[in-house]
Amino acid sequence: MAIRHTMQLLPAFIFALALVLMASAAATETIHLKFYMHDIVTGGPSSPATAVQVIKGVVPLANDPTTYFGDMYVVDDLLTEGPDAASPAVGRAQGFFQFASMTEYALLLTANFVFTAGSQNGSSVAVLSRDVIFDSVRELPIVGGTGGLRGATGYGLLRTHSVNTTTRNAVLKIDMYLRV
Ligand SMILES: *[C@@H]1O[C@H](CO)[C@@H](O)[C@H](O)[C@H]1NC(C)=O
Ligand SMILES: *[C@@H]1O[C@H](CO)[C@@H](O)[C@H](O)[C@H]1NC(C)=O
Repeated sequence: MAIRHTMQLLPAFIFALALVLMASAAATETIHLKFYMHDIVTGGPSSPATAVQVIKGVVPLANDPTTYFGDMYVVDDLLTEGPDAASPAVGRAQGFFQFASMTEYALLLTANFVFTAGSQNGSSVAVLSRDVIFDSVRELPIVGGTGGLRGATGYGLLRTHSVNTTTRNAVLKIDMYLRV
């Protein structure tokens, strides 16, 4: 009697299990965002500086060949769709970077990436990362998000698209892979 009862319930159980699995699959979505970041250290008439030094580290240190240890810049960098600063704006990267290694050119980069156009308009993600500036690819841990990206996790890949060694202005290419 008990066995027959269980057998009758089995199809309903499988159906319920399928629903649970479908719901958990739908709850996670991966979003790929690709954009460029304009780090303007030396401003000009048409492009004011957006990366501004606010702390000068104590140099020279005998054990600091970089001579930049402790230097900190606050940034409010434009984000655009393409590498050209005149291409459509998608947001701003607002935060700071600081030279945080005594032995190599490695930054602590902490910023909110605030989106002002496109599918993520009004949302932001928070990044807390180590940026070894001469590495070809740097990984950006995503530690959270707001709006449509609330609770986002995932990572970004940061690449130097171009840099002017005189002005130290750089265009950085960023791909983000977000799970919400
Ligand atoms: C982004 O959202 C704001 C607020 O809703 C709106 O005013 C603005 O026009 C939007 N921008 C774009 C480019 O869609
Ligand atoms: C770097 O910037 C300087 C000053 O704006 C400019 O004269 C020079 O042409 C730039 N170099 C490159 C390679 O774009």
